[in-house]
Amino acid sequence: MVKVITYGTYDLLHYGHIRLLEHAKQLGDYLIVGITADDYDIARGKINVQQSLTERIEAVRALHIADEIIVEAYEGQKIDDIIRHEVDIFTVGSDWEGKFDYLNEYCKVVYLPRTEGISSSEIRTERQSTKLCLAGDIPLIQKYYTEARYVNGIEVTVVCTSDPALSDYFRSEQVEVVSDFQTALSLADTVYIATHPSLHVLQTREALAAGKHVLCESPIAMSEQECEELFTLAEKNGCILAESIKTAFATAYLRLLLLAKSGIIGKVVSVDATCTSLEEIRTENDHLWNSITYWGPTALMPIFQILGTDYSSYQIVSKMLPGDKNFDLFTKIDFLYSDAVASIRVGKGVKSEGELIISGTEGYIYVPAPWWKTEYFEVRYENAERNRRYFYQLDGEGIRYELVAFARSVDTGRPYPYLTPHFSQNIARVMDAVRTGKHTTILS
Ligand code: CTP
Repeated sequence: MVKVITYGTYDLLHYGHIRLLEHAKQLGDYLIVGITADDYDIARGKINVQQSLTERIEAVRALHIADEIIVEAYEGQKIDDIIRHEVDIFTVGSDWEGKFDYLNEYCKVVYLPRTEGISSSEIRTERQSTKLCLAGDIPLIQKYYTEARYVNGIEVTVVCTSDPALSDYFRSEQVEVVSDFQTALSLADTVYIATHPSLHVLQTREALAAGKHVLCESPIAMSEQECEELFTLAEKNGCILAESIKTAFATAYLRLLLLAKSGIIGKVVSVDATCTSLEEIRTENDHLWNSITYWGPTALMPIFQILGTDYSSYQIVSKMLPGDKNFDLFTKIDFLYSDAVASIRVGKGVKSEGELIISGTEGYIYVPAPWWKTEYFEVRYENAERNRRYFYQLDGEGIRYELVAFARSVDTGRPYPYLTPHFSQNIARVMDAVRTGKHTTILS
């Protein structure tokens, strides 16, 4: 019996896949199809896959071409599969010509002709193409532009900025640049807002009123009431309103969150997050984000996602920029829950170790600096032999995955489940407290 093996993602199954599988089957008597696991696809940079592993397996199974279906979960697995299953022929489409010659050592390698004119990527692009406007005067919008290129179905059509350097850059990229927000909105279906926090509510409201989907840098609003009003408007107009915190989409962060919630360190008793970055701050720089708006939402995120938002009290301590009562150089907030405590330290005028520590009754999770763009964390115990290290590659600081999730929300009408309106309202509540000096001590 001649055993044949082939691999693929088989997202949104199309006739190119079917022809390939039929040809593969004709090469022998028994066909094994390896289908990539979701994690493996992400790790190898294939981030746009629309269907889950189960859906993709079901679609291939329903063809009744494969005699056996296996899951490809890690790099290097092909060799092991070929040896274990005593495979005679390995085959893939000619788009991979030469890439798998190293397998000749284990079996025969055959590249089959690829069907021209169709691919999963093309189907994905056609399905959910959205015109995106990037609005803001900070270099971050350049990063979003670069990352949007990796995302199927998002096309940056216009940039709204008044920054001369950014304008020059985008014009050189042949992207339309305008300074008027309304004009920008008319040229897009969706907008990413990274303007100064004082403009977020106004611009988000304008965009939603015009029926545009919004991804707004956190904090969306500086008060709970405004935040609620925006989410109500989004719902009324059938738009997605998403809070942008790129760390929320980093695989390592998501995994540690789930581990903490599933009890790997026992009951969580304390969450402590620090985010700082030193930069030159002058009073005339009124376009600068202060410490709490720049870092606050990111630092608050693990606290609210792990302990919830039912804290019984909180205490804020800030150190302000001399002569500017709106600009905190540093802020520390302590939260008291009935069964836990939490704290954030954020600063643009004070430097500290940017780590995240989640302490539990059986152990703790340690995420080294800078934890907000980490690829790595450790779960540590009293008995160090039980310690575990986790590594998940992060591409594009999480922006790429965030844009994929946003495009998917726009396509399906379903918001991203880990950053809810309730979460956004709680972020806004803290922003409001710091802004209005509630429960606040100001350091001299
Ligand atoms: N394939 C093919 N003809 C096509 C598309 C894919 O023969 N038009 C083959 C590939 O060469 C591979 C298998 O089908 O052997 C599975 O490919 P996969 O990567 O899942 O499909 P693509 O459509 O190429 O996906 P993407 O656009 O995401 O790269």
